[in-house]
Amino acid sequence: MFVRNAWYVAAWNHEIGRALFARTILGTPLVMFRTGNGAVVAFDDRCCHRNAPLSAGRLDGDELECGYHGLRYDPTGACVAVPSQSLVPPGARVRAYPVVERNDWVWIWMGDPVRADEATIPDLFWHDSRAWKAVGGYNHVKGHYQAMLDITLDQTHSRFVHPNSFGSDDKVRAKPKVMRDGASLRCERLLPASDPPPLWARIAGIEGKADCWNIWRYLPPTIIQFDIGIARIGSGALEGDRSHALTGHNSHAMTPETARTTHHFWVAARNFALEDEAVTKQFAAVRTIFLEDVAMVEAVQRTIEAFPDAPTIDVGSDNPTIQARNLVHRLVEAEAGAGRLRRARARPARS
Ligand code: FES
Ligand SMILES: [Fe+2]
Repeated sequence: MFVRNAWYVAAWNHEIGRALFARTILGTPLVMFRTGNGAVVAFDDRCCHRNAPLSAGRLDGDELECGYHGLRYDPTGACVAVPSQSLVPPGARVRAYPVVERNDWVWIWMGDPVRADEATIPDLFWHDSRAWKAVGGYNHVKGHYQAMLDITLDQTHSRFVHPNSFGSDDKVRAKPKVMRDGASLRCERLLPASDPPPLWARIAGIEGKADCWNIWRYLPPTIIQFDIGIARIGSGALEGDRSHALTGHNSHAMTPETARTTHHFWVAARNFALEDEAVTKQFAAVRTIFLEDVAMVEAVQRTIEAFPDAPTIDVGSDNPTIQARNLVHRLVEAEAGAGRLRRARARPARS
């Protein structure tokens, strides 16, 4: 079961152009395109006539023409022409979804359109702010989105999955502070005088111990923001003075494709050495690190499918991921409950 009333990342903005673009989200095949004035449109990828996938059709101006018998749809999803007759049958349309472009990502609302409020899209300003330099990418993952959330939220894996880049023994041992922050969950690891993650030590040119931090915020169901960085010991960074520190902000969106596959969109950004190509190259190399996560999640998925009913045990460091799962579970339950209530109200009263 997926949360439907939420904004999901559907695509990078550069993926959607004047060619029809097919992508499945929450198990629903969609077709996306841009109108002549640049607006992004997303429809169910299904013609309402005889079910041909609309992504196999073509764009003519702002109208999508089905590749089977030529029914044409305007950007609202309404059928506006049937080549074999002069009248359009009443109710001929496909479902169009609310779509918003923000911070280089295309966000889609798969639930009740009345509840789609743009103001609730997270502000990921570091993607496209001039004060930040961002690199980003996309991974298709043959694994459940919750497993991608797990591996990204649970930092204790990094010592083992990313020993030469993100990992450090101190990160494994640190007891994070986990707290609710409105609808989101926040997890803070402040690591004074600790072994820094090797990648950050290399970028900062620091040998030996450093003051480091790793703070994430999880916005259910699928968005994670990281605030990470490094400073020389005692520079005040952990007390809030970042003027002598190097700071990075990362974002992850784990959009479910199906019940067992995920679209992973990521960004790694920094607010220092903006023009330094060598640093940009080092940041872009996080792609390899995220692929290590993907490889582990895909291996986990294969194991789960081989041992479908095998129980697992929890350890103390699972606390943040368990809290995150509970938030999603509550959202799913709330939607299911609201659905049951709507259906009960819709039932005619018996006299
Ligand atoms: S199935 Fe699309 S026009 Fe017939
Ligand atoms: Fe990882």
